[in-house]
Amino acid sequence: MRSPIKCLYLYFILGIFLFNLYLLSRFFGEQEKFKHDPFDQQQHFRLFYDVNFVKNSNEFLVLDWTGKQHIFRENDTIKCDFSHVDLKFCQSKFDSIINSTLRSNLIERCNRLAKLTVRWTNEQSLLKQADLIAFHSIHIRVNNLPELTRNDEQQQFSTVYILESEVHSLNSDHWHRFDFPMWYNLERSYPEPATYFDVKLYLDQLFAPIRVPFSRKTTTAPIAWLISNCNAYNGRSAFVKELMSYIRVDSYGHCLNNIKSKTVTTRRESNSVLYSSYKFVLAIENSNCEDYVTEKLIDAIGSTSIPIVASRSGKPDYTRFAPKHSYINVYDFKSVKDLANHLNHLSTNQTAYDEYLWFRRLPINKYAVTSGFIARSLNENLRLADQILGKRATMRKWLLNKETSVNKYCKLAQFIHTNHWESIYNRKKSNRPTADEVCLPTNDLVSYFHS
Ligand SMILES: *[C@@H]1O[C@H](CO)[C@@H](O)[C@H](O)[C@H]1NC(C)=O
Ligand SMILES: *[C@@H]1O[C@H](CO)[C@@H](O)[C@H](O)[C@H]1NC(C)=O
Ligand SMILES: *[C@@H]1O[C@H](CO)[C@@H](O)[C@H](O)[C@H]1NC(C)=O
Repeated sequence: MRSPIKCLYLYFILGIFLFNLYLLSRFFGEQEKFKHDPFDQQQHFRLFYDVNFVKNSNEFLVLDWTGKQHIFRENDTIKCDFSHVDLKFCQSKFDSIINSTLRSNLIERCNRLAKLTVRWTNEQSLLKQADLIAFHSIHIRVNNLPELTRNDEQQQFSTVYILESEVHSLNSDHWHRFDFPMWYNLERSYPEPATYFDVKLYLDQLFAPIRVPFSRKTTTAPIAWLISNCNAYNGRSAFVKELMSYIRVDSYGHCLNNIKSKTVTTRRESNSVLYSSYKFVLAIENSNCEDYVTEKLIDAIGSTSIPIVASRSGKPDYTRFAPKHSYINVYDFKSVKDLANHLNHLSTNQTAYDEYLWFRRLPINKYAVTSGFIARSLNENLRLADQILGKRATMRKWLLNKETSVNKYCKLAQFIHTNHWESIYNRKKSNRPTADEVCLPTNDLVSYFHS
């Protein structure tokens, strides 16, 4: 009988087949896993990597290459709160790394964050020492971009920022050259947005008691407007001019000015005080673009009056920034006259008016109501927000989740210290979107109501 040999032969073939199956499954299994864990990928495919610390200093040096960040002066230390960073935090970040040398190196680097100071300079001669090079988009000169060091010994990173909307954006087609594009866009910024909002302060304002109650809002006009750019992209001046033919608007700024005030200054607080005696505050931006929401909304919210905003097709989506039914969106009305009718109705019906301030008036908002201003921590503020607005409030998922209220350079120092440098470098980068992609068309506030 030759069957024992045949059996052995078949057994052998089957063995190879099963072994291949095993290898294949491992391969695809790993692929699946790698997608979620760049460190693991590093671990398995390219073992060359060794964590060499850039320098054994506890300083993170930010070089403002374009020199337009006026809030800091040479050698200013940026105050970061890294108090949440401890050994446990760092261990949890790098838990999944199998190579123990690599793991402990990364944990050590992460742990050093607690002692890190972030220093700011605009001395271009310090390029070689800088950890992060910052570029203000508008002032970038493409033929004057420094070459950054990126090797096993030293890793330098770049960031590009701007606070103006896409409509006023120069050099946006160069954004793919930079590691960290950070602007107000909650989704497209990397690793985090840098919005106009300081979430902690903003929530203090959002939960503050009403400054001037309805019965004491006795200005002759129900609406306040304070703007300096009269040729805004969205045509807001023409829009407000038409609105003025149906309802009184006190315009303090340069555009359609009809009232003077000694109290108006460029300082925000004063404007919030001025706004607070009005029932409504026009908080329409100069252009209506994805997530482009500025201090205009913040000041109006801070005044505890009702903001009037403009948003269509989610440009921008105000539910990401403010509680629902806390503002009036002009695009919710068929005509400017309809809008004026609604505003007139609210300004004579306190019940309907106060419904827009529901989040300030809820009994659960006891901190604000009983104790006035209390210095709460960000976490306390977020807990209060969850109680008042509900954990599923849209702004919880967006602004309150994405903007963590720290300086953008602090955010980046933390990110760089708690992530793998190659995974940052290898990210697929793209340009800032164009105005056509993310903004409503020019003069939309006029054409929308007259077509
Ligand atoms: C573990 O990582 C260290 C540091 O990156 C590296 O030098 C070493 O070769 C790695 N060891 C193994 C077994 O992969
Ligand atoms: C900034 O600090 C460096 C090093 O400590 C020092 O040499 C330099 O003079 C300082 N520059 C200013 C403007 O203070
Ligand atoms: C005032 O508004 C409330 C709430 O929207 C409404 O129920 C009430 O009928 C209004 N009163 C008048 C006089 O319009």
